[in-house]
Amino acid sequence: MKKETSSVAHLTLNGKTYDLPIMSPTVGPDVLDIRKLYAEANVFTYDPGFTSTAACDSSITYIDGAAGELLHRGYPIDQLAAKSHYLEVCFLLLYGHLPSGSELESFETLVTNHTMIHEQMVNLFRGFRRDAHPMAIMTGVVGAMSAFYHDSTDINDPHQREVASIRLIAKMPTIAAMAYKYTVGQPFIYPRNDLDYSANFLSMCFAVPTQDYLVNPILSRAMDRVFTLHADHEQNASTSTVRLASSSGANPFACIAAGIACLWGPAHGGANQACLQMLNEIGTADRIPGFIARAKDKNDPFRLMGFGHRVYKNTDPRAKVLKESADEVLELLGVENNPILKVAKELEAAALLDPYFAEKKLFPNVDFYSGIILEAIGFPMSMFTPIFALSRTVGWISQWKEMISDPAMKIGRPRQLYCGQTLRNYVDIENR
Ligand code: CMC
Repeated sequence: MKKETSSVAHLTLNGKTYDLPIMSPTVGPDVLDIRKLYAEANVFTYDPGFTSTAACDSSITYIDGAAGELLHRGYPIDQLAAKSHYLEVCFLLLYGHLPSGSELESFETLVTNHTMIHEQMVNLFRGFRRDAHPMAIMTGVVGAMSAFYHDSTDINDPHQREVASIRLIAKMPTIAAMAYKYTVGQPFIYPRNDLDYSANFLSMCFAVPTQDYLVNPILSRAMDRVFTLHADHEQNASTSTVRLASSSGANPFACIAAGIACLWGPAHGGANQACLQMLNEIGTADRIPGFIARAKDKNDPFRLMGFGHRVYKNTDPRAKVLKESADEVLELLGVENNPILKVAKELEAAALLDPYFAEKKLFPNVDFYSGIILEAIGFPMSMFTPIFALSRTVGWISQWKEMISDPAMKIGRPRQLYCGQTLRNYVDIENR
């Protein structure tokens, strides 16, 4: 659907003018095509953090940061959160359209039939320390999938790519739940094919062999909404990591493991854990001004976790839905007057009134309220980022599949502004 216009921008450099074609997306800002710039003008562009650089073209997800809009294949996230469910959104992201009834049924059956992991993989979990962070376990175990599923590592075979995609979406909840069970010293719980995706995940996390576990439908609906809201988010750091890793031709399991590693950082998926830690540390509303003052202090590295976003400069639409969900879930669970939710709301209100946050366009992001919901469901903080990772797996895979099937794909190889020593001769150790 990409449209290349006939218009060009002109760059004048050392008296010579170069034409830069302007590419127009279906929606969003135009993009200057600088692909031939180095060959023609012998200059690089400089953009650490890719703040002004489109690294690929994509038809999956669109974000309008100024309007606070997030679309998956054109559908707004608030409509998907209210009317759809996670596996339907997975289908939408992977195949580009909303499924018919029969398409959805076959997709759900396919995913459900791949939820077990190779039994030998259980030994991998047992090799970790019991106090390992579940993200450390997930990074290792997902990377190790390439040692178990040899029949889906050939990226040039579309059928193998499809099998790898389904395996990753189906097995990620099993791996995340096993990582959790291992760290709490409980037996692993096998997946149950009579449960839907979210209910099965809750069962694998919270069931024990000694008694029946009935999944509370309120909790599985809340879980499904958390999964849906985290499913994809355009070219964020972990997705770009997956794209860069796979641009070398690496197998999909290795690439998704790279995405998980990137997501772990507190500026990205690790922010949900860091945010709840921060809210607990604040503890009571009277301590909010002190923390806001710290966040504004240039000499203090502290930042309000769950606040700010590279792209959203108005509101994060996912945070809006999660704030409503937090209210609903806590009310339905009978957790009245949750003190941490109260601190979160008062902190949000105080920050939004503060000129520092208004001027820098800093608003609550998806991680601000998600931890409160996950804690109410019963998860410890260490599981927040693994849950983000399992939700985002479909986004990583959809972007990976899109990239691999693009004939224009090239290995990712950024250039640099070299600021080091120029050529010098080696000095023997006795002369230094
Ligand atoms: N608290 C206080 N000040 C902030 C914050 C914050 N949370 N976020 C940004 N700023 C300030 C920052 O100090 C800078 O000020 P100045 O211009 O005076 O130097 C300005 O706002 C711009 O910040 P930046 O770091 O240049 O912006 P960025 O686009 O590179 O970073 C961010 C975006 C999300 C990494 C950042 O806002 C942040 O660290 N937020 C806290 C962590 C967080 O909640 N991350 C989750 C992001 S959403 C989910 C996900 O991606 O996984």
